[in-house]
Amino acid sequence: MTNAPEKAPDVEEGIEYWNNQPANYDGVLGGFGTGSLPRIESLGSRLFLLGLYPELSTVPSAYKPLREPEHFLRVRALDVGAGVGRVTSDTLLPLVSDVVLLEPVEIFVQEAATRARASAAGSTSTGAEERSHWPGLQGGSKSVTVLQGTLQEFDPLNPHRTHFIDRIGYQPARPADDIGLGYDIIWCQWCLGHLSDEDLVAFFVRCQAALKPQRRSLIVVKENLCSDLPDSKPLTIFDDQDSSLTRSDLAWKVLFKQAGLKIVREKVQEGLPEGLYTVKMYVLGLSLTNGKFTDWFMTGMRCDDYICLFENPRKQMEMQ
Ligand SMILES: C[S@@+](CC[C@H](N)C(=O)[O-])C[C@H]1O[C@@H](n2cnc3c(N)ncnc32)[C@H](O)[C@@H]1O
Repeated sequence: MTNAPEKAPDVEEGIEYWNNQPANYDGVLGGFGTGSLPRIESLGSRLFLLGLYPELSTVPSAYKPLREPEHFLRVRALDVGAGVGRVTSDTLLPLVSDVVLLEPVEIFVQEAATRARASAAGSTSTGAEERSHWPGLQGGSKSVTVLQGTLQEFDPLNPHRTHFIDRIGYQPARPADDIGLGYDIIWCQWCLGHLSDEDLVAFFVRCQAALKPQRRSLIVVKENLCSDLPDSKPLTIFDDQDSSLTRSDLAWKVLFKQAGLKIVREKVQEGLPEGLYTVKMYVLGLSLTNGKFTDWFMTGMRCDDYICLFENPRKQMEMQ
């Protein structure tokens, strides 16, 4: 086996595959939607996020800073290849204020919008067998914006090539106020295999431009890993079934580097059923212009410093 995959992913074939899966957790999780996997997986992601952003903790805990910020700043996240909105509802919305969800497949994106609207209306029954709760939509303290499109076409800062489906929950004073604002967290889970190496690097470059420059903004990649080749060389395998690529740890790292991204933290997701690929979370920041920024995560900061940064962008600039 060599590193070069025998084929590149075909966008239409990938969409066709997902179009024939049920629009529920089982469908997006390859039949693992009704067991322990979704709960363990999203718990792992939330704990991982809290380790990066202790100030997002909603309950008293060792993570939560003692001093609350005086001015609440909204935290924005992007969830790409979002399926029926599982990561948005179970991982991101419990912690952040606003999520933009991108998904190309019609049945999935409509199901995500239906679930979000049902939650906003106070009903968690959507007709699907599982009931998802989307925190903060009922009452309008949080929002979800649902977009339809592929990662190949999507530019997070200029989303005009995607189709707007709905915005549910909190509405800014002027509807277009947060387009172009950028993101604190860009979450990419179990979908980047649908991009060729070239398209993936280009997507990462567009993501970097969409990270909020004066905040501790990061990209999270949570994906399956195949093993590296025995001589510690990267490996990428093409999967005919859904026209996607599975990459080894080193294959991911080569691409992060090509895109100018620095690994801030990496962690294997524990507790998943046996027989599945290893799943790893990588946190990525800008490696050149924002090097000191990512160093903060690696060296650790006092909680008070976190609060000051969220409250006071000038202090943040001074620290850079
Ligand atoms: C394994 S599911 C994961 C869904 C979701 N991230 C989750 O963890 O629940 C893969 C998702 O990638 C989406 N996808 C396929 N091709 C894509 C593309 N070209 N651009 C963006 N997403 C794509 C599929 O429609 C599907 O929703």
